[in-house]
Amino acid sequence: MAKSVVILGTQWGDEGKGKIVDLLAHDVDAVVRYQGGHNAGHTLVIDGKKTVLHVIPSGVMTERARCLIGNGVVVAPHNLLKEIEGLEARGLDVRSRIGLSPACPVILACHEALDQARERARGKRAIGTTGRGIGPAYEDKVSRHGLRLADLADPQRLADKLDAVIDYHNFLLANYYDAKPVDGDAVRDDAARFGQILKPMFTDVTGDLHELRARGGRILFEGAQGSLLDIDHGTYPFVTSSNTTVGGVLTGAGVGPRDIDYVLGITKAYTTRVGGGPFPTELDDAAGRLMAERGVEFGATTGRPRRCGWLDAVAMRRMVKVNGVTGLCITKLDVLDPFPEVKICVEYEGVEAFPVGAEEWGRVKPVYETLPGWSGTTQGLTDASKLPAGARAYLDRIAELIEAPVHMLSTGPERDANVIFQHPFGH
Ligand code: GDP
Ligand code: IMO
Ligand code: MG
Repeated sequence: MAKSVVILGTQWGDEGKGKIVDLLAHDVDAVVRYQGGHNAGHTLVIDGKKTVLHVIPSGVMTERARCLIGNGVVVAPHNLLKEIEGLEARGLDVRSRIGLSPACPVILACHEALDQARERARGKRAIGTTGRGIGPAYEDKVSRHGLRLADLADPQRLADKLDAVIDYHNFLLANYYDAKPVDGDAVRDDAARFGQILKPMFTDVTGDLHELRARGGRILFEGAQGSLLDIDHGTYPFVTSSNTTVGGVLTGAGVGPRDIDYVLGITKAYTTRVGGGPFPTELDDAAGRLMAERGVEFGATTGRPRRCGWLDAVAMRRMVKVNGVTGLCITKLDVLDPFPEVKICVEYEGVEAFPVGAEEWGRVKPVYETLPGWSGTTQGLTDASKLPAGARAYLDRIAELIEAPVHMLSTGPERDANVIFQHPFGH
């Protein structure tokens, strides 16, 4: 029986990870974010009420699970606090349940300014980032001059390190990007203040996880973004700046490969992408517009419209392998209910090997297989025996093409709208 389950997206994000994390969180002792930051937008709908989480783990709406933020997550203190306060205003006890790794890299106002200045400078080749400072914060981590949460909480260390970082970023902003420098005093004051507020939530996330595991506790690792946005395996450079694939769990939480018992790949029944970059199965027609309309495809973080297209079995097959996916959860199948036929990309023409980066991805010509649609609705369905035969055939074909079994199906935004064929925790 699985004790540690990873939930990650197999596409370009927004597959419905948050909803499934919230559902499975009832059974677990800890939900852990291990990469990304508040570029994520994870939507939960519970009793008709919508909650969008950005950096707080999606276990927060259940009572039992601790919500841990591992060292691989980049944290913007101001935004984290805003999120905490928003939940507290609804009567939730959040602070006592959050555990923050003091090793998390910090996102400062100058990272955000730099992210936005870079995007402007890229012009037509802009990545379409969320503008949250994610890339620059990870750059500072890798270049070894970035600050970590632990630094904010120690006034002496903060004073020693922060000035150099602000000076460097402001130099770049003013002299390279011709942008407005940030107010150094405000950054310094905020950093010191937030450090003291966050300090009581610090914990040794890695140590806590190993202790939990030794006690036989259940752990859910919550991925952000999607596998095709992975810095190494995605559609580079139109990617995010972290490892969104399964390796991110190991480095971003401090566990070993044998500490992962099951990987659930969340896969939308079609594909969406927000921001720039190649998207072989993208549709610019009535079918794409119907997906966007029925799926309410607008970014949960930035509100931008999401681009829509058919399911891409070639990319999915690769991501199943990269992540060692145990089982799939197909989400938003209900969105395809009225379609007279559905298509799956089964082959790429125009490239010899799996695309290396944006240039190769841009040359891909998708070859489709067409399946009949289904009559009847899957919306809100919870009983596998009521699944229309055509919908069942679509799921079977997906499993066959992408070489992974379908263990779960999501049939609506509500927490309870699911069919569970095989429970990831094995019950
Ligand atoms: P995440 O980033 O992977 O957590 O996904 P988002 O929350 O950004 O986007 C998924 C959207 O689809 C949210 O608005 C969810 O409420 C909604 N959603 C999730 N699962 C389903 C489903 O099975 N059917 C429908 N119609 N909507 C869903
Ligand atoms: P969740 O967790 C969809 C995209 C941005 C942009 C690229 C780089 O909700 O699935 P960044 O700000 O990370 O440097 O932007 O990545 N992106 C997402 N797209 N869902 C997300 O998160 C995303 N997080 C980042 O749109 O194309
Ligand atoms: Mg999202």
